[in-house]
Amino acid sequence: MLFMAAKKFYVTTPIYYVNDVPHIGTAYCTVCSDIIAKWHRLKGEDVRFLTGLDENSIKTYKAAEKLGRKTRKGIQEYTDDMAKKWKNVWKKLRIEYDGFVRTTELAHKKVVLDFFNKVNKKGDIYKGKYKGLYCEGCEAFVTEKELVNGLCPLHKTKPKELEEENYFFKLSKYQDRVLEHIEKDKNFIKPESKRQEVISFIKSGIKDVSISRPDYGWGINLSIDKKQVFWVWFDALLNYISGAEGRWPADLHVIGKDILRFHAVIWPAMLISAGYKLPKTIFAHGFLTINGQKISKSLGNAIEPVYLVEKYGLDSIRYFLAREVPFGQDGDFSEQVLKDRHNNELANKLGNLVSRVSALAEKYGIEKCENKLLHRLKLHEIEKLIENYELDKSLNEIFAFVDICNEFVQEKKPWETGDKNVLYELADSIKAIAILLWPFIPETSEKIAEQFSFKIRFDEIEKPLKEGRIKKHGILFKKL
Ligand code: MSP
Repeated sequence: MLFMAAKKFYVTTPIYYVNDVPHIGTAYCTVCSDIIAKWHRLKGEDVRFLTGLDENSIKTYKAAEKLGRKTRKGIQEYTDDMAKKWKNVWKKLRIEYDGFVRTTELAHKKVVLDFFNKVNKKGDIYKGKYKGLYCEGCEAFVTEKELVNGLCPLHKTKPKELEEENYFFKLSKYQDRVLEHIEKDKNFIKPESKRQEVISFIKSGIKDVSISRPDYGWGINLSIDKKQVFWVWFDALLNYISGAEGRWPADLHVIGKDILRFHAVIWPAMLISAGYKLPKTIFAHGFLTINGQKISKSLGNAIEPVYLVEKYGLDSIRYFLAREVPFGQDGDFSEQVLKDRHNNELANKLGNLVSRVSALAEKYGIEKCENKLLHRLKLHEIEKLIENYELDKSLNEIFAFVDICNEFVQEKKPWETGDKNVLYELADSIKAIAILLWPFIPETSEKIAEQFSFKIRFDEIEKPLKEGRIKKHGILFKKL
């Protein structure tokens, strides 16, 4: 027998700063990545889904300091506490990762030091003086040109003026090679508008970047100079390798648009310098906003995802995040819209369909026949949309089929006829819907699979549903 190894898929989220707990904006990035990971799992692929925490930041140091924890041990305890909180929120959102990197772990530090040695041996590191601005919110060196009224446009804070000795990475040396790769490989940066943005940015000229800072009592010390710690981005980007478990290069880095340049310019240059392959795709999504403002802790408009899960249910939140905002664009968060989508799409359309069909199938039974109704599901299109990360559009298509099924119920009136073939077509179509929706709303899909007795696997979509007993169930989505 010929054994076909499963296709591999390695997807990552950014690693989050631990100075605060997750909010709905950071959850957005993680939920969408989890949906993509689950989609590939559904297809039977060998998936590695990596997330984690960016702990060696000045923000961590300051947050711990505020709580009176000033020693390395105290700061480490603070990050340990925060890591528990992050993991707990991810559990509540059913984020099912395979790897979780914390950058204070020894294994990660070793990768950073080893990688730095490679870059240094290549002759790409030199000592220099940095004089300019630094935004602690971005953890980045910024230029006057990037500020709006003297403030960082993202954090609304005034960057610090610095004059310090640092080690620099010869980023400019790799400018042409990175540009060439981005221009040649249309899949490297997505969406296309972001690829164009990066191309013009590189064409405007790139300077070398400082990759260390004077030791301030936290972070990873350089092997060649213990008075310096790695600039947090040099350290953080390497999580994708320290957490790869032999899977490098990544198939997909999901990131927010604010951190695109680090990923699309500095990261590939670092990788080329150290002799590593490049990731296949970097996808930059937009911001979740409130009244047009990015949701963030520092701006004081953050909403806790756990509060929303408790109020509206896990699947409604996951569904809303993927459905409301076209992946790659900004979108406004509103509890009212969340509620409307919960009521109109999940409760009225999907919930009603499942509850009517299961009740009638329990009463009359089902009898296998050709499922012509299922021919109207645009399966191939849905697959293409998800694999092109058009999550909102794929949900639109799936729900267009839910509408078709609801119309079919109205037209065939199985409550009057008790037609077992009609009920079979409907139950078998519900199977397809629930399987396709599993990455988005796993709890609900699993409930439906139990009611209708099928396995949640992509290749079950086109296998006929077994003529077993179908059970009526409690309400899937209570109207709010
Ligand atoms: N630690 C860096 C990432 C290092 S990756 C090697 C960082 N952390 S962060 O916690 O500030 O942000 C992590 C991710 O969350 C970013 O991709 C950012 O875009 C995303 N988001 C934070 N707020 C967000 C919204 N309001 N909306 C959508 N995504 C948001 O940057």
